Amino acid sequence: MEKGKVDQIIDRYDADASSLLAIMQDVQDELRYLPRDAMKQISERLDIPMTHVYQMATFFESFHLNPRGKHICTVCMGTACHVRGAPKLVDQLERDLKLKSGQTAEDLSFTIEEVNCVGACALGPLVIIDGEYHGNMTSNSLSKVVGKMKKAEGGE
Ligand code: FES
Repeated sequence: MEKGKVDQIIDRYDADASSLLAIMQDVQDELRYLPRDAMKQISERLDIPMTHVYQMATFFESFHLNPRGKHICTVCMGTACHVRGAPKLVDQLERDLKLKSGQTAEDLSFTIEEVNCVGACALGPLVIIDGEYHGNMTSNSLSKVVGKMKKAEGGE
């Protein structure tokens, strides 16, 4: 199934090697990460060595080589957010989602990630949930947000 999706994306760019990054980005948008098989498929169809595709994937931080959850909870661990309690927010997420930071749930529902300063220090501590910025976050309000998301996903 994934193979077909990847093929469709490659076709959209006429399997043009100069569109490598755009293709990789679109595949990641579709699958939420860049599986090794997809990179191999891209490499073969664009006639670009796999080592080159892999180098691109590891050079750009925006690419993810491991599966990621449907919901991404990212805690900013830059200095400003850190001193305002970001580590406690990570602890809270780990407890609520029963996951370690950097991990993805087995059912691919959630991923916890940490980033360095994203340039919104005035909002710290900051948690980005599915791309939405939640500033001045407390453990309590984070727990509520996550609880709602779990409920919506059919969890407890
Ligand atoms: S330290 Fe978190 S946004 Fe700057």
